[in-house]
Amino acid sequence: MRLLGGVDIGGTKCAVSIGRETEAGIDILGKIGFPTPASPGETMERLGEAMAELIDRTGGEGPEAIGISCGGPLDSRAGFILSPPNLPGWDRIDCVTPLRDRFDAPVALQNDANACALAEWKWGAGRGMNHMIFLTFGTGLGAGLILNGRLYAGASDMAGEAGHIRVAPDGPVGYGKAGSFEGFCSGGGIARLARAEAEAAISRGQPPSFCPTLPSLDDITAKSVGEAAVQGDPLAVRLFETVGRKLGRGLAVLVDLLNPEAIVIGSIYARQRALLEPYALEELRKEALPLSLEACRIVPAALGESVGDYAGLSVALNALES
Ligand code: BGC
Ligand code: NA
Repeated sequence: MRLLGGVDIGGTKCAVSIGRETEAGIDILGKIGFPTPASPGETMERLGEAMAELIDRTGGEGPEAIGISCGGPLDSRAGFILSPPNLPGWDRIDCVTPLRDRFDAPVALQNDANACALAEWKWGAGRGMNHMIFLTFGTGLGAGLILNGRLYAGASDMAGEAGHIRVAPDGPVGYGKAGSFEGFCSGGGIARLARAEAEAAISRGQPPSFCPTLPSLDDITAKSVGEAAVQGDPLAVRLFETVGRKLGRGLAVLVDLLNPEAIVIGSIYARQRALLEPYALEELRKEALPLSLEACRIVPAALGESVGDYAGLSVALNALES
């Protein structure tokens, strides 16, 4: 079975992995991660070194193809990362050529949400489907669209930038726009909402459990609010209700527009499904057309919170298959 290489370029962390296809799916043989270096050149150099080290560690055989996953905007056909907001200083960086030259294998680049969609389609909740959507719901919000049994990229590789869709007239800013899907349904969005709520509660003399004092406002993260909500903190629970309802709005747009068999949702949804799902589904039922809704399942990533670990590997597989 084929050996695949995966590369993940993120705003704070990078990772390389090697995986072997199995009858059941894919086996990750090894992974090396490191903090994203300051410059693109250094990042590409470190990624190459890490891949070489991993090949050594896993028996010396080089992967048949390497897939790179990175947040957009990018040009997957040219293999260029354009200028993603989470990678300041990156501007039209060719990330394919250095790896192709070094490892003498085909190298493909994909948007991170598209890559996760491929991973869930090949090895997770979307197996065997012709029409499925993956939503990241992590640091940012992006969608990957599998339509008619293949990845849909759009005219300029921008298909699936669902984070930009407005789901409320006003609200937290995500994707440069108040009330956007990403403004509510992302790690940063949840943290910003929580800080605003905490500030208001503190000034009423009722500090929430996830933030007892004002100076700690900056420490509030989606994770800490999630933990407070699981413990039953009423403010945190209500906040997840707000976010869940906005998620339902966004899902309804996708369901009505694309009539998918499933929408698979990653990180924060996979972790906090119990807090979000009832509200998301209630709103979705109010908004979407029943005939489209009947055909569609809303499920957490089967590869779990670590779906990102499979992203690069699935891009490599897709490159070999298309
Ligand atoms: C970016 C998308 C990306 C998503 C998830 C968004 O802010 O625009 O390209 O897929 O974040 O990382
Ligand atoms: Na996308």
